[in-house]
Amino acid sequence: MFSFFKKKVYLCDLLEDFHDVHSHLLWGVDDGAPRQDSTDRIAAELVNLGFSHVYLTPHIIYGCYGNQTSETLKARFAELAPYEGLEYRLAAEYFLDEKFSQHLTEPNKMLTMADNHILVEYGLQVTRAEYLDMLFEASLAGLKIIIAHPERYAFAFDGRNMHEIEKLTSKGYALQLNMLSLLGKNGPKVKSIAEELLFKGKYTFLGSDTHSRLYTNTIKEGTISPKVAEAIKPLIANNKEILWK
Ligand SMILES: [Fe+2]
Repeated sequence: MFSFFKKKVYLCDLLEDFHDVHSHLLWGVDDGAPRQDSTDRIAAELVNLGFSHVYLTPHIIYGCYGNQTSETLKARFAELAPYEGLEYRLAAEYFLDEKFSQHLTEPNKMLTMADNHILVEYGLQVTRAEYLDMLFEASLAGLKIIIAHPERYAFAFDGRNMHEIEKLTSKGYALQLNMLSLLGKNGPKVKSIAEELLFKGKYTFLGSDTHSRLYTNTIKEGTISPKVAEAIKPLIANNKEILWK
């Protein structure tokens, strides 16, 4: 469906057979779906939007959400009811803090996507692309880094943004764009940084980061320019070809 003047494209029109790489659908483990029925309601919306495969990436943050571990998340994943039309896989979104190094002592136990890719996030207030030593340590352990939604971090906000972003991309770390950032849901500044990074070719993957039906409703109604639509098509292909092997 195209809007009346054909100047905007509905994001969801690009999402047929979409393979998501970032979501909080696994119930009762973080700030995403609280119960199985919540997961199912979000899943129904995702299927309507065209999603066919979804990585469940619960937060692993020390001191938050009951200190989830690979084991506790695998146990919940084993209890998760399937949803027709969606294939689920379990990964995680690791918060970068001093405790992240502890996970690296047993990299084989970490929750990764295909080809040993691992999704990591910064605190939103972080002003520099710090933790570079930790990320390097992770890559030495054989993990391939994906930085979740860099457009949302303080270090992308000011005149240093490209400099700080390039500290990450120059090391070969991939960047994952959030759909809601692109749709302006995190404010105009985040949207403009997202578009700048997108047009400079900095992103590799696109994620929904769905926590609730607020996210799916926004995606359903959201429009983007034809230029943005063209720019995200390779990311959508990368999701499927690289992370869902
Ligand atoms: Fe997330």
